Amino acid sequence: MSSDNHVIAGPPLRLRPLREADEVPFAAAHQALAEEGYHFGLDGYQAGCSWPGYLQRVRDGQAGVNLPAGRVPATFLVAEVAGQIVGRISIRHELNDFLRQEGGHIGYAVLPAHRGRGYATEMLRQGLVIASSLGVEQVLVTCDDDNVASSRVIERCGGKLDSTAMGRDGSTLIRRYWIG
Ligand SMILES: CC(C)(COP(=O)(O)OP(=O)(O)OC[C@H]1O[C@@H](n2cnc3c(N)ncnc32)[C@H](O)[C@@H]1OP(=O)(O)O)[C@@H](O)C(=O)NCCC(=O)NCCS
Repeated sequence: MSSDNHVIAGPPLRLRPLREADEVPFAAAHQALAEEGYHFGLDGYQAGCSWPGYLQRVRDGQAGVNLPAGRVPATFLVAEVAGQIVGRISIRHELNDFLRQEGGHIGYAVLPAHRGRGYATEMLRQGLVIASSLGVEQVLVTCDDDNVASSRVIERCGGKLDSTAMGRDGSTLIRRYWIG
């Protein structure tokens, strides 16, 4: 999806939609991030759930069809390097109250085994191009106040700190950045 790749070294990173053949690596990715308390699969993904059903939910989520209450349309893509899934990104097409306060337009994660190679920075750069193609020019990106790597990613992509606010869990400080 990008011709302008900023990965530090090695083969290029590209963002692409999920495929039927991704079921096994996707489950492994979900498990790897769950061990750190993060979700790789969004849209209600659970280990062992129907994969065709999940793919349909992701497609529906992008089209804004059958959205659960409180959800906005979002584009979910995996990041692939040399044929391997290394991360995922979710690009929300609009904000609701929760996203405006702490979720932001774009969320991303890189698998533990693939960190520190510039992948998240490249994913956000490409995600910003996709957001722009969806008409989102001012992009809100957030991270926990103590997530040094993520705040670095956002700042490298031009993020300007707007505010630091308490998350709805009442204990996590969230940094809110605007890009664009
Ligand atoms: C945050 C995360 C996406 C970073 O992914 P990544 O691919 O390792 O990030 P990059 O390689 O693009 O590194 C970005 C910057 O952070 C720095 N960085 C990476 N890990 C770091 C760490 N543990 N401590 C401090 N800085 C770190 C890098 O040096 C780089 O800075 P530089 O551009 O000045 O060299 C990844 O750690 C992750 O998925 N964490 C769990 C989920 C998460 O936090 N998602 C973001 C939610 S807002």
